[in-house]
Amino acid sequence: MSENKTKAPEKAPQAAPQRGPGARSRGPASMSQIKGSIGSLKRVLKIYVGYFPKLVWVIVLCILVGAITAAVPSIFQKNILSIITDTWETGDWAGARPQVLSYLIPLVCLYVLALAMAILQSQVIAFMTQKFLARLREDLFDKMQRLPLKYFDTHKHGEIMSHYTNDIDTLRQLVSMALPNILRNVILLVTVFGIMLYYSIWMTLILCLGFVLMLVITGKVGAGSAKYFIRQQKAVASAEGFIQETMNGQKVVKVFNHEDQAIKSFEELNQTLVSDSGKANAYANILAPIINNIGNIIYVLLAVVGGLMIYFHTPNLSFSGEIFSIAIMVPFLNMCKQFMGNLNQLTMQMNAIVMAGAGAERIFALLDQDPETDDGYVTLVNCEIAPDGTVTEADHNTGHWAWKHPHQADGTITYQVLEGDVRLTEVDFAYVPEKQVLYDVTVFAKPGQKVAFVGATGAGKTTITNLINRFYDIADGKIRYDGINVNKIKKKDLRRSLGLVLQETNLFTGTVMENIRYGKLDATDEECRQAAVLAGASDFIERLPDGYNTMLTNNGSNLSQGQRQLIAIARAAVADPPCLILDEATSSIDTRTEAIVQRGMDKLMEGRTVFVIAHRLSTVQNSDVIMVLDHGRIIERGSHDQLIAEKGVYYQLYTGAFELE
Ligand SMILES: Nc1ncnc2c1ncn2[C@@H]1O[C@H](COP(=O)(O)OP(=O)(O)OP(=O)(O)O)[C@@H](O)[C@H]1O
Ligand SMILES: [Mg+2]
Repeated sequence: MSENKTKAPEKAPQAAPQRGPGARSRGPASMSQIKGSIGSLKRVLKIYVGYFPKLVWVIVLCILVGAITAAVPSIFQKNILSIITDTWETGDWAGARPQVLSYLIPLVCLYVLALAMAILQSQVIAFMTQKFLARLREDLFDKMQRLPLKYFDTHKHGEIMSHYTNDIDTLRQLVSMALPNILRNVILLVTVFGIMLYYSIWMTLILCLGFVLMLVITGKVGAGSAKYFIRQQKAVASAEGFIQETMNGQKVVKVFNHEDQAIKSFEELNQTLVSDSGKANAYANILAPIINNIGNIIYVLLAVVGGLMIYFHTPNLSFSGEIFSIAIMVPFLNMCKQFMGNLNQLTMQMNAIVMAGAGAERIFALLDQDPETDDGYVTLVNCEIAPDGTVTEADHNTGHWAWKHPHQADGTITYQVLEGDVRLTEVDFAYVPEKQVLYDVTVFAKPGQKVAFVGATGAGKTTITNLINRFYDIADGKIRYDGINVNKIKKKDLRRSLGLVLQETNLFTGTVMENIRYGKLDATDEECRQAAVLAGASDFIERLPDGYNTMLTNNGSNLSQGQRQLIAIARAAVADPPCLILDEATSSIDTRTEAIVQRGMDKLMEGRTVFVIAHRLSTVQNSDVIMVLDHGRIIERGSHDQLIAEKGVYYQLYTGAFELE
């Protein structure tokens, strides 16, 4: 059985002279990796059995089918042969007929029964396989949704994809083909072995010698191919990662005429894949001929020894107590052939097992990732505020929100009205330990204030907003929201209270309406339309062929960048959050539309705390306070007029931009 997509290459480059963007570092798969993949296989089996406690029925079916197919023919063969040899001497052929029939009819019935059970077994396995894979895919997706952003920063998306495709497929081969085959063949082997032992111990011992030899060789070759199957799995993932990256960057590839370079890089990755899977298959493929030939030698040896035993009337050491005769010898040799055949089939499952081990290991590497932690216990609830200021929780949308604090000490609950007061105090942060990005950042945003961040590219503006959202956790300092440490707020509730327009717009496959509704799942069509009007998006949406029902695909590639941003703003607006973060929200919008959007945004911002990041200073100048960031530090702060008067960096930025305009 060889499901591998590539054939053995004769020669493969050992080390690519120049690594393409998708190249990866790879060392030889070590013994510990092989052990790791065996461990992963055990885990897969445990999960599989755990999912299907009824699996025991399949095993019973397998045993029955196996035992019938293995035992029945040899027993019948022997009995019918005995009748024939006896009749040869007596010459009573008419008397032998009913005897032969009395064996033949049950034989046919048993075969029909075995066939029915085999069909049933295959159906059950097919069903279980699909269910098992579906569960695994769900587990993977579930985990993926709970991983911190850091995971996606450090893993290529194509490689993550390959867990769902390539790695899962190795498990499909394992559970749908290899495992049933192994089970069937082991049962056949044991049954046939038992029968052979019953008829002749000497002959079976000779067979055992060959068996041990085969096991040793299989073990050695198996370890060799395992090493390369693990590499093959990684190579497939790298190639998939590269393909996806190139697909996403097609425009850039074309505009910089990088087609040839991309092809070359892909060839390198492909060669690595060919080399690894070639070596893996080369190892795996030499196994079958070796096992076959050892089998043939044993067969000849048994035929010679058996013949001599009959010729010399050697006493037969057996549990049956019968003399070794032709009637035993013929079925014995047939069983030997079957035994070798089963053994060969078993070794052929090696590929699938090793590949599944490698696939399983990679799947568990994702499943075992620590999910994004959330120790928050303060939640966000709708509330009613009585004239005397008392806050009570409400189960419907009241337009007011409160933080709900459960107090463990005395079991009481207190409510605090959400205001949108966000304070960062002496915050330090680094995405990766060796490179600090923010230093000692202190920002106070009072409810309803508009705080703007300006600064050169890479200064850390987006990073600050990433921290308010708790996309990443801070190393040092404090972030408080309405006086509550954000670590105490449940992430879901924290994020619900913050409307976010990201620097890079992401739209999903669906209609324009559905994309706006993403901001608030229970928003009515009317609410979505109003949000679009507020965001200044309604004009262009109404001009689309299907208006709000226009389908967006591939991150809204049928829209312009600015139109995508307008939809993203509408999406944030429909959520009606008390606090807004707008990261370059209007960067791709023309100045005329920006003026329209700005009016809408001004309405949207009323009464909300807003963090706005913009390179266009015209967007930020009416903010309450402007923070100028430089290399992760806030170097200036104040209102537009104050900063202009200070004649510092902001002044330079502003006048520079002014002159450019
Ligand atoms: N996910 C990440 N992992 C590691 N480093 C990152 C990550 N995101 C950003 N950085 C680094 O953090 C620094 C600040 O990035 P940030 O995105 O906050 O800049 P910015 O001020 O928003 O710039 P821009 O105006 O270009 O959007 C940069 O030096 C960048 O290299
Ligand atoms: Mg940014």
